[in-house]
Amino acid sequence: MLPSTIDETISWLREADYLADRGLATSIYLALQLKRPLFLEGEAGVGKTETAKVLARRLGRELIRLQCFDGMDQSSAVYEWNYQRQMLAIRLAEAAGRGGDEARLNRQIFSEDYLLERPILRALAPRNGAMPVLLIDELDRADEPFEAYLMEVLSDFQVTIPELGTIKAPEPPIVILTSNRTREIHDAIKRRCYYYWVDYPEPARELDIVRRKVPEAPARLAGEVVSFVQEVRKLDLFKLPGVSETLDWVQALARLDKLFLDPEAIATTLGILLKYQDDLVRVRGAEAERILQTARTAAAPAPG
Ligand SMILES: Nc1ncnc2c1ncn2[C@@H]1O[C@H](COP(=O)(O)OP(=O)(O)OP(=O)(O)O)[C@@H](O)[C@H]1O
Ligand SMILES: [Mg+2]
Repeated sequence: MLPSTIDETISWLREADYLADRGLATSIYLALQLKRPLFLEGEAGVGKTETAKVLARRLGRELIRLQCFDGMDQSSAVYEWNYQRQMLAIRLAEAAGRGGDEARLNRQIFSEDYLLERPILRALAPRNGAMPVLLIDELDRADEPFEAYLMEVLSDFQVTIPELGTIKAPEPPIVILTSNRTREIHDAIKRRCYYYWVDYPEPARELDIVRRKVPEAPARLAGEVVSFVQEVRKLDLFKLPGVSETLDWVQALARLDKLFLDPEAIATTLGILLKYQDDLVRVRGAEAERILQTARTAAAPAPG
């Protein structure tokens, strides 16, 4: 059952512990309703990949994930012939004295039985009665020939296999593409998708995420950590912390039985939040104490 309004999309995602802002919820709602791929760009750890996981879980659809990498080719992304089985079939045919009937043998070994489906091809057919969710994750890591190929898939939801013909999806799967923007993705891909830039969450939403995902953390600790992280994101660092780092940090501090943030706890665990030595050097010490003061003020419940 697809959500039928934007508000319903927000609460529907929330029930699966995903807290989307209105912009993202609108994009998701429209992508689902109009069956268009959704292209999500944003910094690391802001919940891009999680969107696809939550959609699959919430809709009871299978999640098919294509993790992109440099040098990814058709055989890992789309399909591959089962070469070993083909060889075996040829040997068997030869042994049975049928090796000479080349046309028949070709029909046999280039049939679907000998095809190894990779994520894109698998996503073109219903799985357990419904079209799956196809996650094309970190597309910026793949190279441009793959993008060109993807254009055909995203516009027609079909794949052409020279030996077999064209395989077309009966209806489009739900497609989520993500990128960390280490390079720009081709306009022609973007044109086929709805686009949304996923930003860091505002303080209230980040706190909400933390309270849901790390329920064991004391309220004051959660509030101070979120405020601290929000302050850190205002700095000019090499790599700003994402929501995943916030969650990891709160979880670690809760495990250390911290009830609130203090300079000692920050000094000993800052590597969970910041993962570059230059950033750690920059924030550690006096700067951390200044941020902590600001964070405490921001996190303090309003009087009255
Ligand atoms: N809006 C949100 N609601 C709930 N959880 C969130 C939200 N945003 C991020 N998270 C949590 O933060 C973590 C990181 O999310 P995710 O892996 O989706 O990030 P990403 O944007 O794909 O990062 P990367 O670019 O590094 O792959 C996950 O544990 C996810 O549950
Ligand atoms: Mg991701």
